Amino acid sequence: MNVLRHPNEWSKPIGTTVGFVPTMGALHEGHLSLMRAARAECGHVVVSIFVNPTQFGPNEDFQRYPRNEQRDLELCGEVGVDTVFAPDVETMYPRRTTVVAVRGVTERWEGAFRPGHFDGVTTVVAKLFHIVQPDLAYFGLKDLQQCAVIRRMVEDLNFPVRLRFCETVREPDGLAMSSRNQYLSPEERRRAALLYRRLRECRDEAAAGGSLAASLDRARIALEADGFAVDYVAWVDPVTMEPTDRLQPHCRLIAAVRLGGVRLIDNLGLDTA
Ligand code: PAF
Repeated sequence: MNVLRHPNEWSKPIGTTVGFVPTMGALHEGHLSLMRAARAECGHVVVSIFVNPTQFGPNEDFQRYPRNEQRDLELCGEVGVDTVFAPDVETMYPRRTTVVAVRGVTERWEGAFRPGHFDGVTTVVAKLFHIVQPDLAYFGLKDLQQCAVIRRMVEDLNFPVRLRFCETVREPDGLAMSSRNQYLSPEERRRAALLYRRLRECRDEAAAGGSLAASLDRARIALEADGFAVDYVAWVDPVTMEPTDRLQPHCRLIAAVRLGGVRLIDNLGLDTA
């Protein structure tokens, strides 16, 4: 496995398909499932490990975001990654004069609670796409709005890359895997699994023909009773990220909650287990 630190060290292999999994490290089974999907579909798999400062707000966790490059590299090796691109901040951002910003789909939900976050995501993903020139790129549906934003950027700016969005990987109790789950105390970790349970109840109620608004009210009340501070819970169209009051097969139920100092996001489709 090659470990590259600078874009100049990479030249795209010819005659094979390049699959790309961008990450911020602190790898878990969710990331590994994306790498395995890329491995199954592509001749050459590239993973980036870069904790991107521009997608963190001033009061967010950039400094304490978990970093363990040695372990990340071992995991990449185990799933058969060919190349890891792990630049430092100065290499990626010698200046910060250009920003890639997607309008519309970024404005609600995470965009409203984390101002500037998606500009950081689209800027770094655009840079990584230009550097790696992947044929396919893999993202986890846990970050549903991020998937919608990147899809829109790729369409609007004609990036020659096919996107693959892969279902969320969960702990045995249903908690969606996330590098930030490490911040939870043992008590918070136990309670965190209730988010998935409440979302399933809400989803099942709506799928059985109940009113979407009533299902959301009940979910919010249940989550608050469980000890979560609810930033939002909503039914959305996953392409536009607009709220919907009419359940269609592709709709998804999204939520963001806070537990102590830790923010959790999750979402379910109508057919998500
Ligand atoms: O999903 C993430 O880990 C990040 O937002 C990404 C796509 C690697 C960009 O920094």
